[in-house]
Amino acid sequence: MPTTTEMLSPDATGYARAAEILGAGRLVAFPTETVYGLGGDARNGRAVARIFEAKGRPRFNPLIVHVDSAATARGYVDWPRAADVLAGAFWPGPLTLVLPLKAGAGLSPLVTAELPTLAIRVPAHPVARQLLRTFGGPVAAPSANPSGRISPTTAQHVLAGLSGRIAAVLDGGPCVVGLESTIVSLADETPRLLRPGGLPAEAVEAALGQPLLQPGAGDPLTAPGQLASHYAPDAPVRLNATARLPGEVLLGFGPVDCDLNLSETGDLAEAAANLFDHLHALDARGATRIAVAPVPDQGLGRAINDRLRRAAAPREGA
Ligand code: TXA
Ligand code: MG
Repeated sequence: MPTTTEMLSPDATGYARAAEILGAGRLVAFPTETVYGLGGDARNGRAVARIFEAKGRPRFNPLIVHVDSAATARGYVDWPRAADVLAGAFWPGPLTLVLPLKAGAGLSPLVTAELPTLAIRVPAHPVARQLLRTFGGPVAAPSANPSGRISPTTAQHVLAGLSGRIAAVLDGGPCVVGLESTIVSLADETPRLLRPGGLPAEAVEAALGQPLLQPGAGDPLTAPGQLASHYAPDAPVRLNATARLPGEVLLGFGPVDCDLNLSETGDLAEAAANLFDHLHALDARGATRIAVAPVPDQGLGRAINDRLRRAAAPREGA
């Protein structure tokens, strides 16, 4: 059903309105330090169903629940020592922990797609934190883009994809990290990286003092990223390009001649923050193809290359 999407400012009126909308079981997109999230009350099955409906997302994909503190998180999940270590080191911040869901936690089963585990994080963005405090409950939020498309890092990106499909957007400016959170599962004996993201996996390994099992290694369960085509712009994408071919626009990295540069100085944090915005911008130019310069595969570069490979993968149904 079409609605007019309200644009809210991060002030007392905006937070109160956003909390009121969430309380009514409707959806608010809000900024986190990683990307904008499409938030709904995680205890309300109708609200969670509306998230899937607005995104056009397959139902089997479980959602991340956002809470205001590690103390709140402990009410929803079992809490091994490794969770203490990682939450202590990296929360609030761009890390999602997958942990065994506590019985009777009161979340809609749609949030976890009926898995015995829950993905949960405490975001660092001050606007997300104030929203969570004002609302006072757990907020389920995938990235605020139509399913399979590029994640939004500004309120304008959100509107471009979901205007008329959600109740409101809380505008907190551009996201500083620009890549979705790193997802680590602590649900089994050995910690496992489920999705590389805004926190380098090396930092997680250093804090734990042990290597992470890598995504996909013998694990049937998928994080979003395991769907081959994801984070896709309209235009096809060609990787590891050193020059433009006819009809292409070039997304550069480092000191190269290009249409837009992820980071002229080769700074991976700057490149991560620019990645989705530049893909949105190049897509809007209507080029026949987006060529992308090589990005080193270390630290945040692993997450950047993960998103780029998916943007370049053959499209589902294509
Ligand atoms: O940075 C982020 O993580 C952003 C912001 C809004 O917080 N959110 C985000 O959500 O990227 P989403 O839905 O696009 O990706 C979350 C992914 C799900 O697609 C799913 O594959 C994985 O997290 N996930 C959720 N619950 C899980 C679980 N219990 N076990 C394993 N993976 C899970
Ligand atoms: Mg997403």
